[in-house]
Amino acid sequence: MAYKGIGMDQQADIVGIVGAGLIGRSWANVFARAGWRVQVWDPSEPQRAAAHAQIAQSLHDLQAHGLVDDSAAAAQRVQVVATLADAVRGARYVQESGPETLEVKLATFAALDAAAPAGCVLASSTSAIVASQFTADLAGRDRCIVAHPVNPPHLVPVVELCGAPWTSADTKARADAVMRAVGQVPIDVKREIDGFVLNRLQVALLTEAFRLVQEGVVSPKDLDHTIADGLGLRWAFMGPFETIELNAPGGIADYCQRYTPWFRRYMADLPTARVWDDDQWQKAADAWGPAPEPADVARKSLWRNDRLAALAAHKRGRKPWQDS
Ligand SMILES: NC(=O)c1ccc[n+]([C@@H]2O[C@H](COP(=O)([O-])OP(=O)(O)OC[C@H]3O[C@@H](n4cnc5c(N)ncnc54)[C@H](O)[C@@H]3O)[C@@H](O)[C@H]2O)c1
Repeated sequence: MAYKGIGMDQQADIVGIVGAGLIGRSWANVFARAGWRVQVWDPSEPQRAAAHAQIAQSLHDLQAHGLVDDSAAAAQRVQVVATLADAVRGARYVQESGPETLEVKLATFAALDAAAPAGCVLASSTSAIVASQFTADLAGRDRCIVAHPVNPPHLVPVVELCGAPWTSADTKARADAVMRAVGQVPIDVKREIDGFVLNRLQVALLTEAFRLVQEGVVSPKDLDHTIADGLGLRWAFMGPFETIELNAPGGIADYCQRYTPWFRRYMADLPTARVWDDDQWQKAADAWGPAPEPADVARKSLWRNDRLAALAAHKRGRKPWQDS
């Protein structure tokens, strides 16, 4: 496997997973397949009772795609524990994935800072609460950082690392090293910003998508084809800058010299970005069709994860000139 621990002694690589919902269980998968010992805790007894079987199943599913060598051995490295203190015992890295409220993040990080061993990095999966909002008063605030994943992190590797102004350079470097060691792709968000990078890009695209549907330019289904069967095919393995580099013989500068006037014209009627109104999203939702039943969501999520796993296996062969 390409994944590995970061210590000289692999036995010493212990991660604490705090919160065993959708994201926490997926993080457990990421670390377990990389050979780490995983200590999972959730305050909900039913969540704790279900967690091990769910994580084991997700590891098993990966093996079919060649993404885990021995899913049973990986599952054995996962231990569901009774308290937060048990989860962080001996850990060199903690990934918090509790509910997305400031109150919970404040309380959880206070408890983590009190219980975690010295030097242990404390990372939050938060999607939208910057670290300075919930770490300011902690003695160990320099070891706290946001490590924002994309759902599900065991199949979508990018992680946005974003520190508070007081997060130490050492914490950032160690969070980056841990993420790389377990096979994720960390990106450095250099300063705190609402929505980090990924969701800012997502809202820019969604804003224009809702506008095009609202104005009757395209149906929601055809809008989705434009991404799933168009732009998204390249975006599965290259970003927008690499895309445009190959869209003009002279690279990015050539592309911008050729096409900037077109894009200025397209966007001339959109002087400021404006997030969709209620009637705008309602129109798109009506045109899309009825909301899915929970069973449909579960079935489609399994299908999505299977396709993402196949894509992850495919992407292993990418960019040979960078692998050498
Ligand atoms: N779902 C996503 O698409 C997604 C993507 C990226 C980041 N995130 C972030 O990840 C975090 C978890 O999201 P999720 O989708 O897994 O939510 P979830 O509702 O599936 O899971 C949350 C879990 O936290 C547990 N919990 C409750 N109180 C807690 C506490 N005090 N300490 C620890 N755990 C507690 C709950 O029992 C539950 O199991 C959130 O901060 C969310 O913003 C979610």
